[in-house]
Amino acid sequence: MRETEQRAARAFNEKFGQEPDLVASAPGRVNLIGEHTDYNGGFVLPCAIDRRIAVAVGSDRGGWLETLLYSTDFDETREAGQKDDSWADYPRGVGWAMGEAGYEVGGFRAAFAGDVPLGSGLSSSAAIEAATALAIDALFGFGIEGTDLALLCQRVENDYLGVGTGIMDQYASLLCKAGAALLIDCRSLEAKSVPLDLMQAGLTLVVCDTRVERGLADTGYNDRRATCERAASTLGLDLLRDATEGDLDLLSGAELKRARHIVTENIRVLEAVEALENTDFDAFGRLMYSSHASLRDDFEVSTPELDTFVETAEVHGALGARLTGAGFGGCAIALVPENETTTVTNAARQAFSEREFKDPAFYEFVPAAGAELAQPKS
Ligand code: GLA
Repeated sequence: MRETEQRAARAFNEKFGQEPDLVASAPGRVNLIGEHTDYNGGFVLPCAIDRRIAVAVGSDRGGWLETLLYSTDFDETREAGQKDDSWADYPRGVGWAMGEAGYEVGGFRAAFAGDVPLGSGLSSSAAIEAATALAIDALFGFGIEGTDLALLCQRVENDYLGVGTGIMDQYASLLCKAGAALLIDCRSLEAKSVPLDLMQAGLTLVVCDTRVERGLADTGYNDRRATCERAASTLGLDLLRDATEGDLDLLSGAELKRARHIVTENIRVLEAVEALENTDFDAFGRLMYSSHASLRDDFEVSTPELDTFVETAEVHGALGARLTGAGFGGCAIALVPENETTTVTNAARQAFSEREFKDPAFYEFVPAAGAELAQPKS
């Protein structure tokens, strides 16, 4: 078992005085390219990171409402009942969504442990949803497909928590494979793995957490989504995915800018996949920079911190860099030759300090495995 999985199992034992029936874990993600395209039915290319949330579960309680949820990170136990704006709303939401879908979720005990940085745009929320969904599915023997588990987890965000997120994070957390990125067509919901052997290419994926909390993210996010929907309807389309560059002439103002990002970003994702298939990381990197410029100028979700990291990375030899996730704070990524990693992170630290930004945190990631059961129920 991985370290987080062991911690969850140990916590279960200590808290509830027995062995768990099983342990599941699911990763956070970075998105390599294809931002805000998912809820427009477009293309995204995330990969799972080697930071996970694990949950150990045992089903020895009556009904769903008797479920107990324990978090090692917060060192607290919460009940399954009412929403309370805490971490427990994610597992609660999963139980709720499964119930809505007609599955009879019984009562259980759960202990969570994780190392996905919280609230920094690396999808700790999708990780806790995916781990819970996989654990409940295995515990009660529902046999739900990974793609359907992802859709249930998306319902948690959309209908339980009221955030209009797309499908990317939940798909990535449940379906990514180690050593690969995942190309998702967010309209057909088809996904395919795209090999991403960074080590072989002597490259590292550096993540810069700007440590700017995404306080207004949900409002800003829902607002961007609404403008995209208006732009699609101005064009007589269901989804902006179907807009062409020519259609942009029919739009103006914010609708034009948002739609231009979506149209060009979808093209970039497909070009990026082609670049990866040809192991052309220079071309891939250039697409990352264009994606960032488009998110900054047209979609307007960047921040001075994210821009500073991207600019500094470019000056110090990164092949590509861009904000990742929703924007409005959170993280940026850079594709950096292994031997330049320290130069890039040191330079970024210094640039942040000169501009009196918060001290950033850096992580290096390899594309990791999606959600897995650590101990399948026998
Ligand atoms: C958040 C959402 C995703 C996606 C990204 C932006 O991470 O959860 O569905 O829309 O923002 O690409």
